[in-house]
Amino acid sequence: MQKFYIETLGCQMNVLDSELAASALVRAGLLPTGVSADADIILFNTCSVRQHAEDKVYSALGRLKNWKEEKPHAILGILGCMAQKDQRGIFQRAPHVDFVLGPGRLDILVETIEQLRGEKKRPAKTVCVSLPRTENNSIEVLESFRQYNPERMAGSPTSSDAPSLVRITFGCDQFCSYCVVPFVRGPEQSRPPQDIADEVQHLAEQGVTKITLIGQTVNSYQYRQTRLADLLYQLSGIAGMEQIDFVTNYPLGINDYLLQAVRDLPQVSKHLHIPAQSGSDIILKRMNRHYTAAQYREMTDRIYSTIPGATMTSDFIVGFCGETEEDFEQTVDLVKYCRFRNSFIFKYSERAGTKAAELYADDVPEEVKKYRNHRLLEIQVEISRQLAGG
Ligand code: 5AD
Ligand code: SF4
Repeated sequence: MQKFYIETLGCQMNVLDSELAASALVRAGLLPTGVSADADIILFNTCSVRQHAEDKVYSALGRLKNWKEEKPHAILGILGCMAQKDQRGIFQRAPHVDFVLGPGRLDILVETIEQLRGEKKRPAKTVCVSLPRTENNSIEVLESFRQYNPERMAGSPTSSDAPSLVRITFGCDQFCSYCVVPFVRGPEQSRPPQDIADEVQHLAEQGVTKITLIGQTVNSYQYRQTRLADLLYQLSGIAGMEQIDFVTNYPLGINDYLLQAVRDLPQVSKHLHIPAQSGSDIILKRMNRHYTAAQYREMTDRIYSTIPGATMTSDFIVGFCGETEEDFEQTVDLVKYCRFRNSFIFKYSERAGTKAAELYADDVPEEVKKYRNHRLLEIQVEISRQLAGG
């Protein structure tokens, strides 16, 4: 029996896609292995959010040259965001890769692998990706980013204490100026609530008690009349569901209806991850985030006053184009004000094809980015320690 190995980078979207892809491959008669050297098929589910994540994949691919030479019938595939972003460019840097499949085309993964396995002589490299958002009719683009929700392997989510991931939205329409996600994951689409409820019911029947609802901007979930809060009410009614949380939120649209649902439903965790990205209005505007630091603070006040015991976490990008010392200090002030339980802090990484790359120079020196990253982290660590009562 042929064995497959999947290396997953990046966010929970990829973690879930890998889990779903693994289920589909097992159903097709393949055997999972945790040891890449033993595998006949190696897949990389990749991330493009920062350059560093891409560099990691290219160096790992370099290390697989020997494996591929020793096993001429082995299959090497690239999935995820880099597949959509770099497409054929991947073969230039890693000619031993056999196929490239974008995140909107995972539905043909099994078929692609079966075709390659059936060939005596290795056929031409295959690339299957979704349409670029900018140059095409929006309906065709949407159709080219296919939702991927195959049935999962029974038992796999219960093997650890971690919550099972359940996707409720695909893609993103925010177009933050620094971010590749709207290009590589496509237009935002919300899944029908009944499909989500059926999936959660199925998980509950397998003994799953904790779920995390995931989406790029999960709080903008809307399917006809159903919003995120309605979904929380509906899913909380499923017998056996003890803990429900949801990530990632966009600061606009954290309305009182949602906050009251979080407060009133005992199953829903009183924790919200809502990336602020910066505390400077000039930078937020340049980032194409559609709120000010004052609006973010007001939202934080509303969260803490509506939900007793609520905690929050955030993401920040330091060293974004043109960020001055004063802009950075405003981010420091925001972190102190909001008293996040934790913050995930990233140095700005320029991404080709984004508005920021086109319009603004990546002009904050690496040393300054590093310093700001450390300084903000130090402040956050102290707040986290205080909140933990340490
Ligand atoms: N550079 C650095 N960080 C980024 N993020 C998204 N794009 C970039 C980029 N180009 C960060 C944001 C986002 C998190 C998932 O990754 O903070 O919330
Ligand atoms: Fe990227 Fe902004 Fe969408 Fe988040 S909301 S995925 S940062 S474009």
